[in-house]
Amino acid sequence: MIIAVDGPAASGKGTLARRIASHLHYAYLDTGKIYRAVGHAVLGAGGDPEDLDAALAAARALNAADLANSELASDIAAVAASKVAALEPVRAVLLGFQKDFAASPPCGLGGAVLDGRDIGTVVCPDAEVKLFVTADVEVRARRRHKELLDKGEASIYPRVLKALKDRDARDSNRSAAPLIAAADAIVVDTTAMDPDEAFASAFGYIQKHTD
Ligand code: C5P
Repeated sequence: MIIAVDGPAASGKGTLARRIASHLHYAYLDTGKIYRAVGHAVLGAGGDPEDLDAALAAARALNAADLANSELASDIAAVAASKVAALEPVRAVLLGFQKDFAASPPCGLGGAVLDGRDIGTVVCPDAEVKLFVTADVEVRARRRHKELLDKGEASIYPRVLKALKDRDARDSNRSAAPLIAAADAIVVDTTAMDPDEAFASAFGYIQKHTD
């Protein structure tokens, strides 16, 4: 059983995907971390994330332990991620790991939940359940702003909003696996939902759809 969860940044898709996986005792993969790790590695080597050779070398050298780095949560890593993610050969190198995870979830678990931008369209086009989680960009920016303030980081709302809009544009307008809802995905709009409501809505759909 594969559950694909796609959507833009700060839509609540990660929280939702993690909760679905935990509820069903399925494996969970945050595929954004893979692109963040590649972007972060390029920056760490003093390279430019838009440089194909540098990004390809980092993608080829990636190993699972790199995904545990807490620095991947930074906005700098997010921007670098969205730059390496626009390069088709980089995506091709990273595809096999994601497909293998979905087909053979670790520890013999009975299913996998993957979240990202292209899970329902490219990584797992045959997923049994596809969710596209979205929310109004200003609501997403406010959530992200609050998250940063809660972590004790300096955050300026207009900058957070602009960064999200820029990343949405880069992810949606690229030619390689752009951010788009699969034709057979159900849209979960979390604009007016809290995490519990989003989970109830998505889980209700999963139960009906897989009965
Ligand atoms: O989900 P997260 O915000 O961590 O993703 C960081 C970036 O990685 C995204 O903005 C996107 O450019 C890229 N990404 C992608 N495909 C995925 C997951 C993430 O292109 N499946």
